Amino acid sequence: MSDKPTLTSTSGAPYPTNNTAQTAGRRGPVLMQDHQLLEKLAHQNRERIPERTVHAKGWGLQGHFKVTKDISRYTCASMFSEIGKTTEVLSRWSTVAGERGAADAERDVRGFALKFYTEDGNWDMVGNNTPIFFVRDAYKFPDFIHTQKRQPKTNMRSPEAMFDFWAGQPESVHQVTILMSDRGIPETPAHMNGYGSHTFSMWNKDGERHWVKFHFKTHQGHDWLSDAKAAEIIGQTRESYQEALWNMIEEGKYPKWTMYIQVMTEEQALETDFNPFDLTKIWPHGEYPLIEVGELVMDTFPENYFQLVENAAFNVNNVVPGIGFSPDKMLQARIFAYADAHRYRLGTHYEMLPANQPKNAKVKHYHKDGPMRFFTNDFGNPDAYYEPNQYDGPVADETVAEPPLRIDPEAVAARFEQVEEDVDYVQPRALYEKVMSDEERDRLHKNMAGGMAPCTDGVKERWLAVLKKVHPDYEAGVRRALETGDHGDPSLPVTDDTPIKAAE
Ligand code: NDP
Ligand code: HEM
Repeated sequence: MSDKPTLTSTSGAPYPTNNTAQTAGRRGPVLMQDHQLLEKLAHQNRERIPERTVHAKGWGLQGHFKVTKDISRYTCASMFSEIGKTTEVLSRWSTVAGERGAADAERDVRGFALKFYTEDGNWDMVGNNTPIFFVRDAYKFPDFIHTQKRQPKTNMRSPEAMFDFWAGQPESVHQVTILMSDRGIPETPAHMNGYGSHTFSMWNKDGERHWVKFHFKTHQGHDWLSDAKAAEIIGQTRESYQEALWNMIEEGKYPKWTMYIQVMTEEQALETDFNPFDLTKIWPHGEYPLIEVGELVMDTFPENYFQLVENAAFNVNNVVPGIGFSPDKMLQARIFAYADAHRYRLGTHYEMLPANQPKNAKVKHYHKDGPMRFFTNDFGNPDAYYEPNQYDGPVADETVAEPPLRIDPEAVAARFEQVEEDVDYVQPRALYEKVMSDEERDRLHKNMAGGMAPCTDGVKERWLAVLKKVHPDYEAGVRRALETGDHGDPSLPVTDDTPIKAAE
């Protein structure tokens, strides 16, 4: 008998073999009664769950957040209550469009999701590595995602669809500019910032509300990959991010970010010359400076990827007292989308899976039964299964209620299309003109031209017209790269060190 632990069935019975099927005679067929074999095959058939409809490819780490500055004047959230306080965190970074098996080094926006296991329940910051987004009305999200996924007939991704859609939604040019800039392919997830992107709110112990934006700035620098370098890496490995994170943790080089907030008063929000709840807009740092909050260090590789990263259910609904929402239309839609997606992808009681279970808060609710009901409500009294009750079942605590949200008294319910093209071009213009260097602009022109090279002339011209409204040099630079073929169309031959040229 081996001194190793005994292999068992799922019901705990010891297995006599894990190699040899039970057959009728040496050369005969397998017997139906070999239930161990049936169990093994049946489990294999159920090893996959639906992949996320977006952000399917991801990489995760565990770590900690530590408060370094006092922001209790803005929030009563317990995780920010004192300097030095630390909170456990699970991160998941992702690409948006690719499937679960997609290559890591693809040009795409990156998801930047953090789950803080606070004493008041889990706070999820489900952001991206960009401070803004492509669209500002949730009606447009499914269509946008369709353009990023596969075309129904060819079953291939379609630049024509992407640029056709963006040309019809000029507010997307801010995000597309970032996507086509150096930050469109970070070298690893450690080499990018994270942003909550939406406007959220914070309220303090006196019930005062401020609007806030969340920023996580990388300490590793914004190292990036060119299209040519990315193509080379993808030719060698599809898992370059997973490998890089593994090596960082093995070598003790733990990736680190500083968390900041930007703060806007309710009065200031009435006076901005852009809509502060529009997800296609940033808040300029000059007017709304970054306020340091703390330090995020991710230092542990999860023991089991599927259990902790694939099963992670990040949800913008997971807010805690002291942190709330804003009127941002996209944020409001996400409040529906995530829990709905998790119930479909993971099951009814997805919050009880190890990745999602609150670690530092007690869960007490009256939801009952259903699939995955493998926990007790633990109220100490089996009769307390409805509310109100005469026993000691849990009751709501009105002191944690969010302060009332001030709404324009003149407001009427209608569908307000937000068409403000002039305002939409101001911020991408600032990025292009003031933030980027000549070299960065040159690479932006080439990356953009490479991306749109396969499109028809009609789509190209419509998109070039949008770029011209941002800045005439932007349009001229991309047009030049398109005409000369001096761009990074990955379908063209790639060499190690020479700039990519179109075939003669
Ligand atoms: P600032 O000069 O104060 O900030 C510029 C910001 O741009 C910095 O946060 C910098 O990030 C970031 N940045 C630099 N290169 C890129 C790039 N290729 N893609 C995305 N971000 C980049 O100016 P403002 O706050 O007035 O903003 C000017 C423009 O910068 C905005 O219109 C917007 O397009 C962009 N931006 C602004 C942000 C904000 O929250 N205010 C955040 C990110 C971009 P870092 O400091 O980490 O290098
Ligand atoms: C994942 C919907 C906008 C960041 C998802 C998922 C859905 C979804 C259904 C898959 C969830 C899962 O199966 O676990 C939407 C809708 C949006 C929207 C309807 C707009 C109306 C955004 C925006 C951001 C964002 C603006 C960033 C600022 C993410 C991230 C993930 C994700 C990071 C992956 C989370 C993880 O790592 O598990 N989104 N999304 N989404 N979304 Fe969104």
